Amino acid sequence: MKTRKIGPFEVSAIGLGCMNLSHAYGAPPSEADAARVLLTALDAGVTLFDTAALYGFGANETLVGKTLKAHRQKFTLASKGGLGGFPDAQGKVVRGIDGRPETLRRYCEDSLRRLQTDVIDLYYLHRWDKKVPIEDSVGEMSRMVEEGKLRTLGLSEVSAATLRRAHAVHPITAVQTEYSLWAREAEIAIVQACRELGVAFVAFSPVARGFLADGVPDVEALEANDIRRAMPRFTAGHYPANLELLKAFRVIAQEAGCTPSQLSLAWLLAQGPEIIPIPGTKRVDHLLENLRAADISVSPELLARAGDCINQRTVSGPRYAERSQSEVDTEQFPAE
Ligand SMILES: NC(=O)c1ccc[n+]([C@@H]2O[C@H](COP(=O)([O-])OP(=O)(O)OC[C@H]3O[C@@H](n4cnc5c(N)ncnc54)[C@H](OP(=O)(O)O)[C@@H]3O)[C@@H](O)[C@H]2O)c1
Repeated sequence: MKTRKIGPFEVSAIGLGCMNLSHAYGAPPSEADAARVLLTALDAGVTLFDTAALYGFGANETLVGKTLKAHRQKFTLASKGGLGGFPDAQGKVVRGIDGRPETLRRYCEDSLRRLQTDVIDLYYLHRWDKKVPIEDSVGEMSRMVEEGKLRTLGLSEVSAATLRRAHAVHPITAVQTEYSLWAREAEIAIVQACRELGVAFVAFSPVARGFLADGVPDVEALEANDIRRAMPRFTAGHYPANLELLKAFRVIAQEAGCTPSQLSLAWLLAQGPEIIPIPGTKRVDHLLENLRAADISVSPELLARAGDCINQRTVSGPRYAERSQSEVDTEQFPAE
């Protein structure tokens, strides 16, 4: 497996997003099946595992900790805090953002316990809590680095301006933001800011939550708790138009001698050496298919055609519904 740099860490060019093993896209797999995905990834050379307190409200970190504890020295462990489960007035645990220093400290300590480790290699602020100055949130995370609980810091879904403010408090090692052929907002400013500051860019949802992997033929069949049901691009008003784009995309993948998911990942890897995609999957066959993308060679001409086929001008619908959009700080393309 080829490698890329995230600050002091040399990691596999493609990491593993662990979220789907506990959260997001329908029912999670059994613990045994989830462990098989994690251990196969490790065997195949993956050395970057990405989790968060949010995923399954702690269940994903517990799974990663339990399964990979014996191999802790072999990989870079990334997790996130500041977005997670909080009890509502009725005592039900609901999703919320809280970036206050004292809450972040609690998040971090809970994550260390669930992950069964003394130190997290890369710890992201999952969302900037706009009620708290970024300097205060990152300042507290910086103290946890000094205390040896965290090795390096990251931010997720932030603007270039917020990255620069945070970087002035403590060096930011990675930004994790959605980036794929169909989610190009990162190209407006944040990828360039990362380049200038020497910050790695970790691309989440790199196969567009299955769309670019030819993986969601019928959105009506998605399970009730699948988060794609609330994402505009997967709804009946937009998805048929998006599916049309896949026809030409499949032809380009065929010409490149790879699968649509591999073409999507190869395109991302070609956007710059600081970009590290972290596709997620519940399936070992999809995992291995995705990892092969690090070793294939696709011509610049075919990559350019892939980029012309699927981009912010050709895709139908906004990236996020209103609520999720209000939670992020990233630059946006002007409305058409
Ligand atoms: N920082 C953030 O706010 C944030 C937000 C979202 C995600 N993330 C991170 O990014 C990781 C990946 O993002 P993601 O899971 O949202 O999106 P993704 O990796 O783009 O897509 C995952 C979906 O694509 C399908 N898929 C993957 N490879 C496939 C293949 N080769 N063939 C067919 N289908 C395939 C998976 O289904 P199968 O299970 O059937 O393969 C799953 O439904 C997450 O695990 C998480 O660690 C971070």
